Amino acid sequence: MRACYLQFLLLLGVLLSCNATKLGFSFDLRDSKVRCVEEERQALLQFKQHLVDHYHWLSSWSSDEDCCKWEGIKCSNKTGHVVMLDLQSDYWHYREPATTYLEGEISSSLLGLQYLTYLDLSYNSFSGKPFPNFLGSLTRLQYLNLSSTNIAGAIPQQFGNLSRLISLDLSWNYDLTEAHNLDWLIHLSSLTYLDMSSVNLSRVVNWPNKVMMLHSLTHLSLRDCSLSTLTTPQLLSINASTSSQLLFLDLSINYDLMENFQISNNRFTGPLPESIGNLSNLKTLAVYNSSLTGVIHEAHFSNLIKLKELYLGLNSLILRFGDDWVPPFQLDFISLSSCRLGSAFPKWLQSQKNYYWLDISDAGIFDIIPAWFWDFSFRLSYLYMSNNQLHGNLSDFSSARFNEFAFIDLSTNHFDGSIPHFLSNVSSLDLSNNRFSGPISFLCEHITPTLLESLNLSNNTLSGELPDCWTYIRDLIVLNLANNNFYGKIPDSMGSLVSVQFLHLSNNGLVGKIPTSLKKCSELITIDLGANNLSGTIPPWIGDSLPNLVILNLRSNQLYGTFPLSLCHLSYIQILDISLNKIEGTIPECISNLTAMSRTMDTMSSAIYAYNGSRSYEDYAFLVWKGRVFVFKNTLGLVKMIDLSNNKLHGEIPEGITNLTELIALNLSRNNLSGLITPKIGLLRNVESLDLSRNQFYGEIPMSISNLSFLNQLDLSANDLSGKIPTGTQIQSLDASAFLGNPKLCGSPLPNKCIDDLHPSFINTRGDKNHNVKENDNDGFITKGFYVAATLGFIGGFWGVCFLSVLNIRYIMKHLTSNARMMLHVAAALCISLCKVKL
Ligand SMILES: *[C@@H]1O[C@H](CO)[C@@H](O)[C@H](O)[C@H]1NC(C)=O
Ligand SMILES: *[C@@H]1O[C@H](CO)[C@@H](O)[C@H](O)[C@H]1NC(C)=O
Ligand SMILES: *[C@@H]1O[C@H](CO)[C@@H](O)[C@H](O)[C@H]1NC(C)=O
Ligand SMILES: *[C@@H]1O[C@H](CO)[C@@H](O)[C@H](O)[C@H]1NC(C)=O
Ligand SMILES: *[C@@H]1O[C@H](CO)[C@@H](O)[C@H](O)[C@H]1NC(C)=O
Ligand SMILES: *[C@@H]1O[C@H](CO)[C@@H](O)[C@H](O)[C@H]1NC(C)=O
Ligand SMILES: *[C@@H]1O[C@H](CO)[C@@H](O)[C@H](O)[C@H]1NC(C)=O
Ligand SMILES: *[C@@H]1O[C@H](CO)[C@@H](O)[C@H](O)[C@H]1NC(C)=O
Ligand SMILES: *[C@@H]1O[C@H](CO)[C@@H](O)[C@H](O)[C@H]1NC(C)=O
Ligand SMILES: *[C@@H]1O[C@H](CO)[C@@H](O)[C@H](O)[C@H]1NC(C)=O
Ligand SMILES: *[C@@H]1O[C@H](CO)[C@@H](O)[C@H](O)[C@H]1NC(C)=O
Ligand SMILES: *[C@@H]1O[C@H](CO)[C@@H](O)[C@H](O)[C@H]1NC(C)=O
Repeated sequence: MRACYLQFLLLLGVLLSCNATKLGFSFDLRDSKVRCVEEERQALLQFKQHLVDHYHWLSSWSSDEDCCKWEGIKCSNKTGHVVMLDLQSDYWHYREPATTYLEGEISSSLLGLQYLTYLDLSYNSFSGKPFPNFLGSLTRLQYLNLSSTNIAGAIPQQFGNLSRLISLDLSWNYDLTEAHNLDWLIHLSSLTYLDMSSVNLSRVVNWPNKVMMLHSLTHLSLRDCSLSTLTTPQLLSINASTSSQLLFLDLSINYDLMENFQISNNRFTGPLPESIGNLSNLKTLAVYNSSLTGVIHEAHFSNLIKLKELYLGLNSLILRFGDDWVPPFQLDFISLSSCRLGSAFPKWLQSQKNYYWLDISDAGIFDIIPAWFWDFSFRLSYLYMSNNQLHGNLSDFSSARFNEFAFIDLSTNHFDGSIPHFLSNVSSLDLSNNRFSGPISFLCEHITPTLLESLNLSNNTLSGELPDCWTYIRDLIVLNLANNNFYGKIPDSMGSLVSVQFLHLSNNGLVGKIPTSLKKCSELITIDLGANNLSGTIPPWIGDSLPNLVILNLRSNQLYGTFPLSLCHLSYIQILDISLNKIEGTIPECISNLTAMSRTMDTMSSAIYAYNGSRSYEDYAFLVWKGRVFVFKNTLGLVKMIDLSNNKLHGEIPEGITNLTELIALNLSRNNLSGLITPKIGLLRNVESLDLSRNQFYGEIPMSISNLSFLNQLDLSANDLSGKIPTGTQIQSLDASAFLGNPKLCGSPLPNKCIDDLHPSFINTRGDKNHNVKENDNDGFITKGFYVAATLGFIGGFWGVCFLSVLNIRYIMKHLTSNARMMLHVAAALCISLCKVKL
């Protein structure tokens, strides 16, 4: 994640550093003869006293110095008055540790700096302090930046006094800021740049009218402002003639998941006004994920001759253009995902000759890709067409040209035929969920090393033996060939994928042993070889050579032998599934060494990620949860499970297993395990699913089991347990089937009573048929605390650039400390802009 943001932030930094000049500010050079004004020096010292300066950033601010030489200060070379106070922290550069970062409060002693024209306190943290109203009295201010400062509350009316402001940035103080009205704003008639992203504007009934009174405005960002339905009619009345200067309009909202809870407040329900087509200077139109509805047609674009970037994605917009429509613009960036483009492939794209980014995924297209499409003379870098009903073969694809490190996602369509040869310059290729068939020898046709980093061909009907030419593709990080019909052995040359982190080969017909050469793939995070016919033992080198392993899925193969002790060395393993094999012997005592299962989450992310430059890949896994298979993706990183079911294990459960206190699911069913269920079982305080059925456990069910407050699936059936079922609310609410097949067991929820009942009825073992499957629960989600939601029905990991990964950021933020939150938020905010400036 860091690498991802860093790049962009630095890039952005370069751009922003030119901002002051661009906006026309100029600051006088220092003249050594002019010294600072004593009162202003005192004011600054007082200001400093209210700050917490962890990094001694302001160490130059000492009493006996000329304050014009202090860090962040510039004075007028004529009068000596302080005109600029620039304390933008470096937090947003993502330097760690930060070296310039302040906390504390903004003291009203700043009022002593009456000649200030430039004030930037962005990216420091004045946690929860209200807006400094008094700033409204610094009436010479031309530039004010309070972005990401953690200030809270309502924007004060006094800001209306800042009539000379040219640039105002109050963005990303996340959900703490609001505006009751924008009456103050209309006095800021010189404003050219306004960013109030994340300021809650839901109470402002007429914001478009207010904003449009700012005739000089060229940049407006109101992203994530909770703009509500109430304001929709006003949005319709954007007054195109008064605001024809606007170059940048970003009204996108809801980049975050946190506001899931308030969807209804966050929707424009209306259409995009046609008058927008008169904004003839507009370069960027961003109304991403804003619940806009209605039809977009030619008129919306009639005069947008300068438009370069169009973000209409994630709305319910219908785009309907005449067949012969030739747009007045040449776009660079086209994001139309989930807009309805009509069933035919959009013909107007033929007129666009420059774009590097095209996203028409989930756009309802039911067509073949016309040959002209591939014939672009320019080079694409990003092509997203997933989730349509595109069909036909891709034989024309070979003529397409791509920029180096291009992304292509054609997943979840109906393409068929064989996969053409088009790896030049492509770094991520996702053709999953289609009907491609035949062998994948195209991989071997490539003699020169490719740039391929991610290859997802899962869920097709590809067949044949796996090619043996992986040495050509050695930069691969993600390889997903799951859900196909490949057969034969896993070739030794796969061991040359020394960078591979995610390897999915499950659900094919692979046979033979897991090749020893894979031990060279020491970066592996996921090994998913489930549902094949692999044989041999579980290789002990997995534990010693793959130190980063998080997911090991060997489920449903023909593996035999014992549980290798070396697996206990996997200190990051979170998902260990070797069920449905023929593993014998005992569960080793050292299983308590799987420390990731006892560590509380300290990572920032709830998904399992790989980062590579600006790009991120999110892994997924199919997991058996409550007897059914679910795809886990967003929450995958939170899943900690051990599944050793359906093997031939015997002996007792090692007591140390109860040290794995973060386990969410433990399945040891259908083995020959015996002994008592340890009373320490209550230590598995996070467990939601516990299946010990079909073994030979005896003795009483420990009382402590009723401490397991997240437990919602328990199966102890078909053992030799006895005595009274412990009482505890959720135990009794479980289905009786959880206890069936233990003739000596009594008490609720079983029908037979323990003491009172003189004629205990026979236990009905009929339920065994439904063993392990509970249909009454309405979901398969992990219910632990706030983390809810497996990504159902979503298959396939994906690579996305920041633009996409940003979408998860605020969800994650909720669980972070305020500093980290701020940093992330900032990164998220910037990351979005980055995609516009990059490339
Ligand atoms: C003061 O600044 C102005 C404008 O930046 C510059 O033209 C002038 O030469 C400077 N005067 C001195 C004495 O440095
Ligand atoms: C305010 O500062 C942040 C960086 O700290 C920057 O991203 C933003 O563009 C600045 N706003 C303006 C208007 O320059
Ligand atoms: C600043 O604004 C407030 C409220 O709008 C007003 O009462 C006050 O007179 C203004 N002060 C100056 C100096 O303009
Ligand atoms: C925005 O403010 C409204 C009204 O005060 C409130 O109901 C809503 O929850 C706020 N939205 C967010 C995202 O905090
Ligand atoms: C649109 O702009 C014109 C000219 O500036 C103005 O007369 C008119 O009142 C504006 N309409 C709205 C709805 O703001
Ligand atoms: C779009 O906004 C909704 C809330 O309205 C949010 O739940 C969803 O996650 C957002 N989608 C993306 C991809 O940002
Ligand atoms: C665009 O501007 C022209 C001229 O100012 C005006 O006649 C027309 O009605 C405007 N169109 C829209 C859709 O606002
Ligand atoms: C691809 O489809 C075209 C027309 O749909 C057909 O002419 C061509 O033979 C197909 N190519 C392959 C390799 O199947
Ligand atoms: C690959 O990218 C490079 C640099 O962008 C370009 O020169 C080359 O022509 C591209 N190759 C293809 C086949 O598109
Ligand atoms: C595989 O792809 C088909 C569509 O081609 C889809 O219906 C199916 O759900 C996918 N299977 C999985 C496991 O995602
Ligand atoms: C498990 O951890 C203990 C204590 O750290 C160590 O002594 C033991 O060797 C480990 N066992 C294995 C098999 O790694
Ligand atoms: C389990 O944890 C307890 C307490 O933290 C510790 O004393 C014990 O050695 C651990 N047992 C194993 C087998 O790791």
